[in-house]
Amino acid sequence: MFVEIRNLKNHADAEVALRGWLYGKRSGGKIAFLLVRDGTGICQCVCDASQPELFATAGTLGQESSLIVRGKVHVDERAPGGAELLITGLDVIQNAENFPISRKAHGVDFLMNHRHLWFRTPRQIAILRIRHTIINAARGYFNDDGFTLIDTPIICAGAAEGAGTLFELDYFGEKANLAQTGQLYLESAAMALGKVYCFGPTFRAEKSKTRRHLTEFWMIEPEIAFADLDTLLRHEEGLVTRIIGDVLAKHRDDLAVLERDISALEKIKAPFHRMTYTEAIDLVKSEKIQTWMADRIADDQKKLQAMIDELPQHEAKLAAAKKSWEKEKLEQQIKDQRESIHDLEIEISHRKVHLEGTRSFEWGGDLGADEEAVISRQFDRPVFVTNYPKKAKAFYMKPDPARPDTVLNVDMLAPEGYGEVIGGSVREENLAALEARIAEEGMNPEPFQWYLDLRRYGSVPHGGFGLGIERTVAWICGLKHIRETIPFPRTMGRMWP
Ligand code: 4AD
Ligand code: MG
Repeated sequence: MFVEIRNLKNHADAEVALRGWLYGKRSGGKIAFLLVRDGTGICQCVCDASQPELFATAGTLGQESSLIVRGKVHVDERAPGGAELLITGLDVIQNAENFPISRKAHGVDFLMNHRHLWFRTPRQIAILRIRHTIINAARGYFNDDGFTLIDTPIICAGAAEGAGTLFELDYFGEKANLAQTGQLYLESAAMALGKVYCFGPTFRAEKSKTRRHLTEFWMIEPEIAFADLDTLLRHEEGLVTRIIGDVLAKHRDDLAVLERDISALEKIKAPFHRMTYTEAIDLVKSEKIQTWMADRIADDQKKLQAMIDELPQHEAKLAAAKKSWEKEKLEQQIKDQRESIHDLEIEISHRKVHLEGTRSFEWGGDLGADEEAVISRQFDRPVFVTNYPKKAKAFYMKPDPARPDTVLNVDMLAPEGYGEVIGGSVREENLAALEARIAEEGMNPEPFQWYLDLRRYGSVPHGGFGLGIERTVAWICGLKHIRETIPFPRTMGRMWP
């Protein structure tokens, strides 16, 4: 009987078979331990020299060989997953040789080039599993609240989020582009169904190499008829707390693999903080924050120097080491230390740029990563920033009647420096005002005629937002870089494998 590793502990003392891959093995003279993984868990399978044929076969297996392992289940609380298998039979489906990814540290480029194999490591498995739950939770939130899923097109005519990041394509001789958002189509569905959402891949030709931009990313976007700004905020809180709650309920083990500080996630409760763009700018430019930023740079520089000073000691130990395992361990330590030094140097240079950027920041620009990171480090809950300058935002956003040079929009910044994860707004529902905005932006109104129809026939106040799945995954998993949040990342420098 084939059993999944996660269910093994329910089959105490039974004879079962596992199907999976060899994650690692250890042997100590007369006994061999095969670590077998099957996507549901990892199981230690034990074989001893009293079964010479089996024992010999186990000895030949390379990492990631595919196997069927038969044996008796030995339930043991101390074993990972709660059970081990005492091997009685072993079928080798394919004996893999020289799996390129060893347990040693590899550079990111190497790992990215082997993305198709890199999946098999516990860290990547944990991220992919959490991503799955985040997506499911987000869908669940909207489904449970009476939203209808609407699939919006990928091939579009006309830009919604600015011409600067369009991927153009030739559509039988006509210019078309890949969707930057499903929003405009979704607005028409909201006028039919009231509360709708779309979930799909979106595309932006981002010409920047940052830690938070992909050229292909997944976004879940609700659109709500009769919504005002407060309605959007309440839904964002509901959505985000549902996502965090589901991840905490199902993925304690995966978060532990990622060494995620769980207490930071447990603090995410409604209500989130709220401020206007103008208040946010005042905050980042304040004496207090400027001093805080400068102090952090100084602290990190001290930490960096201490790490650099330690290196000669490690190297002296390495030179003195005699045993090969000892040398290997020390070499690894030095390599890790060098990488940490490199990372911290980059971090410090980013911080300096942030500090400079915030000092010279003037009212009117969009908040950049610098300002967002600074704001989002001041609070342990997400922050809503509303009322951005009209000229910094998309044409469809409705100006705030109380302050018409700003719009009724909201960006949600995640804490711990993660920055913008959600962007949304109330939409301009007045025909003349929207036509004027399109003209003001120098956009061709032709592709938007169908969209303007929504303002001609039963227009109502409405709004919505988009949550970027990958930025959410990066935040919840505590990842430094967005490239690990999606199975096959597409960035300016990479579209393979
Ligand atoms: O703020 P954005 O551009 O908003 C929209 O696209 C609206 N049409 C959404 C709406 O109101 N229906 O993007 C929304 C979110 C961002 O907050 C971010 O999480 C993510 O999408 N995002 C990206 N994620 C990864 N790489 C990129 N290049 C991204 N650009 C936006
Ligand atoms: Mg945005």
